Amino acid sequence: MKKFTLLGMATVLTCLSLSATAEIKPFEAVEYRQGIFKAFKWNFGPMADMVKGKTEFNAEEFNKRAERMVELGSMPWEAFLAGTYASGTGALPKIETEKDAYNKKIESFEKAIANLATAAKTNDMKNIGPAFGQAGRTCKSCHDQFRD
Ligand code: HEC
Repeated sequence: MKKFTLLGMATVLTCLSLSATAEIKPFEAVEYRQGIFKAFKWNFGPMADMVKGKTEFNAEEFNKRAERMVELGSMPWEAFLAGTYASGTGALPKIETEKDAYNKKIESFEKAIANLATAAKTNDMKNIGPAFGQAGRTCKSCHDQFRD
């Protein structure tokens, strides 16, 4: 039994180290970042509905989604790698050549999302509305410049 467990552990460890060193395939990077952006939409959409008054404002849900956006907001960027702009992607290749401009967009987005999470804690639409608008504009501003 003990031997079996050790063997199992060794297998797990081997798999882990393999996946850590295996080369990332372009389509995997594209699917990863698109998946995170889908999660953006999944959370940001219901927040937009509440801000617009399409659904009733639920402070607990809004705060939960705002916190999630802060977490998710740092995740897609590591998958914008050289060689991942050729197929199956809406990301423009100039992300590679205009890195500074792209990073600035990321920075303003992350700032806006952090502000939104802070505003959400007040549970007051007077603060949340403008912070949400600002965050939404940082999505659009990046898409306008760097997405197909
Ligand atoms: C710094 C740039 C940037 C910011 C900020 C940004 N996006 Fe995007 N987004 C992209 C790029 C680039 C793609 C295309 C990714 C691809 O296809 O490889 C994308 C794709 C998407 C997609 C499509 C995913 C799919 O393939 O189904 C959605 C939805 C999306 N973004 C939502 C958002 C939302 C909502 C926000 C703000 C809360 C946001 N994005 C902020 C750059 C950005």
